[in-house]
Amino acid sequence: MSSINNPIGLFDSGVGGLTVAHAISTLLPNEQLCYFGDTAHLPYGDKSRETIVHYSTGIADFLLEKGCKVILIACNSASANAYHEVKAHVGDRARVLNVVDPVVEHVAQMQDTRHVGVIGTKATIVSRSYHDAILEKAPNMQVSSLATPLFVPMIEEGFVFDDISNAIIRAYLSRQDLADIDTLILGCTHYPIIRNQISRYYNFEVTVVDSARIVAEYLKKYLEENGLLATGRAGENQYFVSDHTPSFETIANMFFNEKIILERIALW
Ligand code: DGL
Repeated sequence: MSSINNPIGLFDSGVGGLTVAHAISTLLPNEQLCYFGDTAHLPYGDKSRETIVHYSTGIADFLLEKGCKVILIACNSASANAYHEVKAHVGDRARVLNVVDPVVEHVAQMQDTRHVGVIGTKATIVSRSYHDAILEKAPNMQVSSLATPLFVPMIEEGFVFDDISNAIIRAYLSRQDLADIDTLILGCTHYPIIRNQISRYYNFEVTVVDSARIVAEYLKKYLEENGLLATGRAGENQYFVSDHTPSFETIANMFFNEKIILERIALW
């Protein structure tokens, strides 16, 4: 088992997991992060479960080689479809966490919530991970889910804070599937980038759950409870991608004050 000052590994299919990485950097500045964006295989949301498991376990091996003490699956599609497989694959070599469980735990405890909407990729929505886990913890809640597959390419292509993204947001959120919700889970780590636009669509009358912050807080508690909090910063954050895409670099730099240096690693 690695030392407590070893990095926290995170991975996503692309830029999305950086919303989680950013929330972690803000809350836990002592932790060194090792991020992998699988840009060569983006999007995960349209892939089969087997393929997502194959990519995810391969990335876990890479993060283990980097000595990560914790591997956080910073991608809902992979969390929903490959968490148990990655955990079994990694065994006792590192801790494995996902982004679905912390959000489910948080929402199930929200006192004023009666009707929860969940949006995410097709792979996440079809898995029913949020739906089933929320109803298990809070059987009185109503859960309505909708796949919103255009959001990821829209964000990756830089269509944010503009008329095109507003029109796509309206087209999805006005659907009958999400009628009368009081709370909305952004079940994809790309979506916090358009969180304000989504809140504005609802005139701020629907609680839009900030999953990146919730996951970072869950991780902090987890590290504290397991004696895994870093005592000092071991080095700079590291960012790896499986393919170089200009949009990754542009959006990545929107999230961090530090300039992100991307290194390309061919895993497959
Ligand atoms: N950011 C991802 C998620 O949380 C996946 C997007 C994709 O690759 O389809 O699901």
